[in-house]
Amino acid sequence: MSSKTWKTTFIEFLENNRGLVVLLFCLPASFIFNLLLEIRKFVYTKLFSSPRRHDERVRKIQSQVLKWNDLPKEERKLLCTARPNWLSLSTTFFRKDLCHQIPVDLFDILELDEKNLTVRVEPMVTVGDITKYLIPKGYTLAVTLEIAEATLGGLAFGAGMTTHSHKVGLYHENIISYEVVLGDGSLVTASKTENTDLYNTLMWSHGTLGFLVALTVKIVKIKPYIKMTYTPVKGQKEYCDMVRKVSGANNKDDVVPTYVEMTIFNKQRAVVMTGDYSYHDPSIPVNNITKWYKPWFYKYVESISRSGKKHTELIPLREYLLRHNRSIFWVIESMLPFGNNPLFRLFFGWLLPPKPAFLKFTTTPGVRAYTFARQVFQDIVLPIDELENQINVSEKLFDAYPLLMYPCRVYDHGPHQSNLPRPAEKYLVKDTNYAMYNDLGIYGVPGFIKRKAKYNPVKAMREMEQFTRDVGGFAFLYADIFMTREEFEQMFDLKLYENVRRRYAAEGAFPHLYDKVKPEIDVIKIGQELEIK
Ligand SMILES: Cc1cc2nc3c(=O)[nH]c(=O)nc-3n(C[C@H](O)[C@H](O)[C@H](O)COP(=O)(O)OP(=O)(O)OC[C@H]3O[C@@H](n4cnc5c(N)ncnc54)[C@H](O)[C@@H]3O)c2cc1C
Ligand SMILES: *[C@@H]1O[C@H](CO)[C@@H](O)[C@H](O)[C@H]1NC(C)=O
Ligand SMILES: *[C@@H]1O[C@H](CO)[C@@H](O)[C@H](O)[C@H]1NC(C)=O
Ligand SMILES: *[C@@H]1O[C@H](CO)[C@@H](O)[C@H](O)[C@H]1NC(C)=O
Ligand SMILES: *[C@@H]1O[C@H](CO)[C@@H](O)[C@H](O)[C@H]1NC(C)=O
Repeated sequence: MSSKTWKTTFIEFLENNRGLVVLLFCLPASFIFNLLLEIRKFVYTKLFSSPRRHDERVRKIQSQVLKWNDLPKEERKLLCTARPNWLSLSTTFFRKDLCHQIPVDLFDILELDEKNLTVRVEPMVTVGDITKYLIPKGYTLAVTLEIAEATLGGLAFGAGMTTHSHKVGLYHENIISYEVVLGDGSLVTASKTENTDLYNTLMWSHGTLGFLVALTVKIVKIKPYIKMTYTPVKGQKEYCDMVRKVSGANNKDDVVPTYVEMTIFNKQRAVVMTGDYSYHDPSIPVNNITKWYKPWFYKYVESISRSGKKHTELIPLREYLLRHNRSIFWVIESMLPFGNNPLFRLFFGWLLPPKPAFLKFTTTPGVRAYTFARQVFQDIVLPIDELENQINVSEKLFDAYPLLMYPCRVYDHGPHQSNLPRPAEKYLVKDTNYAMYNDLGIYGVPGFIKRKAKYNPVKAMREMEQFTRDVGGFAFLYADIFMTREEFEQMFDLKLYENVRRRYAAEGAFPHLYDKVKPEIDVIKIGQELEIK
């Protein structure tokens, strides 16, 4: 056997037995990797953590920016944080090596204000940290995320949404103030009363206006459990109508549940999940859904869909918030096809999920090109009135199920008052200043790839983006975008943003938003090449 065929056979073996490779190499390595990160964090917390030293740490960041300002103009590379790409959840790999990097090592929770229901934190505090801190005290963030590693600063500058957003809007609507170090080294606070133009454009700015050094966010009072009701619904119109009703899209006076989520298993079948805070009630079963031996959450929901029977149970609050943690929504299945097997769960379930940072750390350019072409990973915010349309378009372009659906309010703040487009008047909920939208999450391997049919990821994604622009929606920028700059500026409203960049010393100091979030590979060219082949 020549070495070439040996190599091909080996690669084929690896591809056909991906799950085994993941189990034998990836998961143990990820486990050790995670352990090292935990140790690092523990040491850091023991040695350096101290909310009292916040001001001192901020002054250090300011002095580094001032030093950068003293460099000759031609030596001043654009600024970014020194946090490595692989630690961030965004799927793109921004070229930080071409930037002047400033360490923003701020990991402390600063103060809890139980009267005003706010908490002030440093930006690198994670969802895992803050839920551990707040829940025993009887609170949680108004808008959290289901992934323990997401940072509160990253959510502020990226996107943040949850199953409570149909009541309170996206994460940025729940930020009271940002404290930011600007490109000239000054420290400013931006809120609804101070530097409002900056306040209105920091959200979804991806660190292109300044360094975030602290933020104050809203919290809400909780009870220890979520009483969750799963309602399986048959028929597209039926489930779309139901989720519009329970999210409050039809009428502002409707009393709606605290948490609303829907998982769509195919065009005709979905499960609507509604949850409210609750105390323990012996008459209702408790389900500890994040235990390692339990079925993956979406698989569990699918079994309820198949049974066709409505079901109610209690879930401890933190477990509810982290319900998608073990299978990272439904991303892990394509890596580990037998991951939800009961025996696997019992013996190895505790190894899940592989740390997102580990997955990114081990992503070589080859792996990146491979996954980019064979997987879709998108969250898109679209008007809920177009829900049937969204599902049909997504099926036509990707044929990937399940689909995730979280309803959310999008507020109308007036002309050019936000980076996000204003909701069209026809979508506004009557007598309010908001429209009901929803996040459509499309994750996994498209049906075309599974069936080995013709599929051009760039063409499909660009069509999805065209649809999104046509209905006034917008894409989460942590995932890959496929738009030209012109198309990007049709989707987002950058008028105020450009003004703020000039007014607050960001021009020439930080990259432009489009340059920061566009993929590091030339996706449009890849798409054209795929068409010719
Ligand atoms: C599997 C998966 C599922 C997801 N599901 C959801 C979901 O359900 N709902 C949702 O809302 N989002 C979801 N997201 C997206 C998530 O909200 C974003 O990735 C978000 O950006 C948080 O990630 P992060 O904390 O790693 O921030 P990063 O990606 O590190 O940060 C976001 C941006 O802000 C910049 N930045 C961060 N901190 C600072 C700072 N201190 N100063 C200046 N700039 C800074 C970064 O450079 C980056 O451009 C999901 C992501 C993944 C991978
Ligand atoms: C909390 O609210 C009170 C009154 O509502 C206000 O005076 C005070 O400044 C607020 N505190 C903070 C830290 O915002
Ligand atoms: C389930 O969670 C509750 C609340 O956290 C806890 O008291 C209980 O012991 C857990 N049950 C099991 C079987 O782990
Ligand atoms: C969620 O996943 C991370 C690893 O990605 C892990 O560290 C964390 O403990 C998990 N949380 C729960 C509640 O399972
Ligand atoms: C979506 O598809 C279904 C069935 O394929 C069809 O009946 C329905 O009219 C379509 N809806 C829209 C808005 O296109």
